[in-house]
Amino acid sequence: MAQNRIFSPRILLFSVLIWALNAASAEMVVRLSPRNGKPCFSSTFSRIFEASKNGIFQLDNGLAETPQMGWNSWNFFACNINETVIKETADALISTGLAALGYVYVNIDDCWSAAERNPEGQLVPDPKTFPSGIKALADYVHDKGLKLGIYSDAGIFTCQVRPGSLYHEKEDAELFASWGVDYLKYDNCYNLGIKPEERYPPMRDALNATGRTIFYSLCEWGVDDPALWAGKVGNSWRTTDDINDSWVSMTTIADLNNKWAAYAGPGGWNDPDMLEVGNGGMTYQEYRAHFSIWALMKAPLLIGCDVRNMTAETLELLSNAEVIAVNQDSLGVQGRRVHSSGTDGLQAGLGRTIVGTQLGCCPVEPMLKSCNRHC
Ligand SMILES: *[C@@H]1O[C@H](CO)[C@@H](O)[C@H](O)[C@H]1NC(C)=O
Ligand SMILES: *[C@@H]1O[C@H](CO)[C@@H](O)[C@H](O)[C@H]1NC(C)=O
Ligand SMILES: *[C@@H]1O[C@H](CO)[C@@H](O)[C@H](O)[C@H]1NC(C)=O
Ligand SMILES: *[C@@H]1O[C@H](CO)[C@@H](O)[C@H](O)[C@H]1NC(C)=O
Repeated sequence: MAQNRIFSPRILLFSVLIWALNAASAEMVVRLSPRNGKPCFSSTFSRIFEASKNGIFQLDNGLAETPQMGWNSWNFFACNINETVIKETADALISTGLAALGYVYVNIDDCWSAAERNPEGQLVPDPKTFPSGIKALADYVHDKGLKLGIYSDAGIFTCQVRPGSLYHEKEDAELFASWGVDYLKYDNCYNLGIKPEERYPPMRDALNATGRTIFYSLCEWGVDDPALWAGKVGNSWRTTDDINDSWVSMTTIADLNNKWAAYAGPGGWNDPDMLEVGNGGMTYQEYRAHFSIWALMKAPLLIGCDVRNMTAETLELLSNAEVIAVNQDSLGVQGRRVHSSGTDGLQAGLGRTIVGTQLGCCPVEPMLKSCNRHC
């Protein structure tokens, strides 16, 4: 099945284009530049690139000037985590050079906590898998110049049925801050049917009140269109359901996330979920497309594979400094899909991402200025 897909002409074209992006984004900018002083874009095109929200830091905690980069345990390990894996991952981020490229957040997902709060009502690290506690892990990670992320849920339980933080925002935020946590991913399970617009701001305020600067990552799966309201609440907000390690999932999510491009910018980003690169469910070419599209969409670049045991190909994709530079461009305008074609879902998905990927190079600073000037 995977092999048949590789040899289809459409995939080959796709691969060539994505390859062109990886290897020569500079050439693409040249190709799209105004020729002989003539405008390069129609007025429709300028409207597509509307960016009036850009540069407004709505959540004023000083973070997320560019999309966050790092690693998260879920996509590869799911619940099978422990402090050894987290430490070895921190070590591997350094030894592979990934940390130096900007992947600094080491984010623990669900399953770090014991099944119940202690008698004082505090969350407790699972004594079997995190016997040294989270503070020790934060110290370990900080000593390497990295940052530690943790996970909780805006409900009464996490998705894996550990205690949630709904109605415990203040004490949980204080505990995370006391441990030296730098990042909170806040999930959406067991939410009692209360709207996310009501459940997510209390944790923002609780984190702020600790006085510690903590990245706030909303994971409410796109419910109630968070792009429209979450800029004032979090540093990033998931726009869709969970990704899985397949081409259809990746392209479906990319298309859904595209709708909210105008709402991304420094301080707050659309989050189409964490990377699957290196997890084995897509081909090398498909992972190259995945990484390139995420970079263009100004998505968080959170590695989701086992960085202690990556293939050379996986490391090469994740280390592509030119692609990372597109993602981390300080202007922070999300690349858009500007054209779609094809009849069935997969063809449309491919067509969209091909064209979107090419033209998505527009919003680098000099280009945007010329767009505004000429169109
Ligand atoms: C820690 O987790 C990893 C990955 O699931 C596993 O391979 C390892 O055996 C675990 N170590 C301990 C001490 O439980
Ligand atoms: C808390 O919020 C205020 C007002 O938005 C902001 O100035 C301050 O930097 C925030 N502090 C932290 C620790 O996030
Ligand atoms: C992966 O996502 C796709 C697209 O959303 C979905 O059709 C498929 O069922 C998912 N696969 C798994 C194993 O969850
Ligand atoms: C490393 O990854 C390969 C697949 O790329 C796998 O076969 C092997 O079991 C992994 N080794 C460890 C120690 O996880």
